[in-house]
Amino acid sequence: MLRLDKYISNATDLSRTDAKRLIKNGVVCIDDEVASNPAQKINSDQDVTIEGSTISKASKRYFMLNKPAGVVSVTKDNHNPTAISLMYEHRSEELQIAGLLDIETTGLLLITDDGHWNHRLTSPRSDCAKIYQVGLAEAITPDYPQQLAEGVILEGEKHRCMPATMEIVDDYNINLTIAEGKYHQVKRIFAALGNQVVSLHRFKVGDIVLDPELESGEYRPLTALEVASIL
Ligand code: URA
Repeated sequence: MLRLDKYISNATDLSRTDAKRLIKNGVVCIDDEVASNPAQKINSDQDVTIEGSTISKASKRYFMLNKPAGVVSVTKDNHNPTAISLMYEHRSEELQIAGLLDIETTGLLLITDDGHWNHRLTSPRSDCAKIYQVGLAEAITPDYPQQLAEGVILEGEKHRCMPATMEIVDDYNINLTIAEGKYHQVKRIFAALGNQVVSLHRFKVGDIVLDPELESGEYRPLTALEVASIL
């Protein structure tokens, strides 16, 4: 939800002062009703017109960032750089992080100002697969695939995790696919198996793969196909 004057200035070249003047002049309509209050909140389903022409809705933005270690994936932090602070985007205060990574975890971080898209990706009911490269302190044991397939019970939880799958890289490294996004989930899964995660890198979320062209700390907009892949 955005204030009407801000919505107009975001979607056009007009300043907020210009937008307020047009509203005062009675030439701005919301869903065919003349608007009079610049502070009125607008949601993305409403049709805003100026002198009868619909202004294009402020288009939504979607990015992938190759998150470095040492960067937090919350929007504000007094001690550490935030993922958003690595991005040179206007209206950065509107950006949200879709699916958090721990400070030392690296790799694919999705960032958007589209709350619905973020929700589809991160709601507890979303079964979007995430793939992590996991480095472990102890060698993997032969029972891991079955334990993961059955769903591990994390410390402090009553219910099993959803089934996960693993692909062995070597004795200490695997690619893990999980569908949930519980707090510290990967670390807690391996703690429950008596092991410890020493490195964690996310490289795939749904059909979106971390672009190998992106150096650590770099980002790029998602393609239309990547955006549409999150249903
Ligand atoms: N699981 C974790 O433990 N940490 C992350 O950053 C992501 C998933």
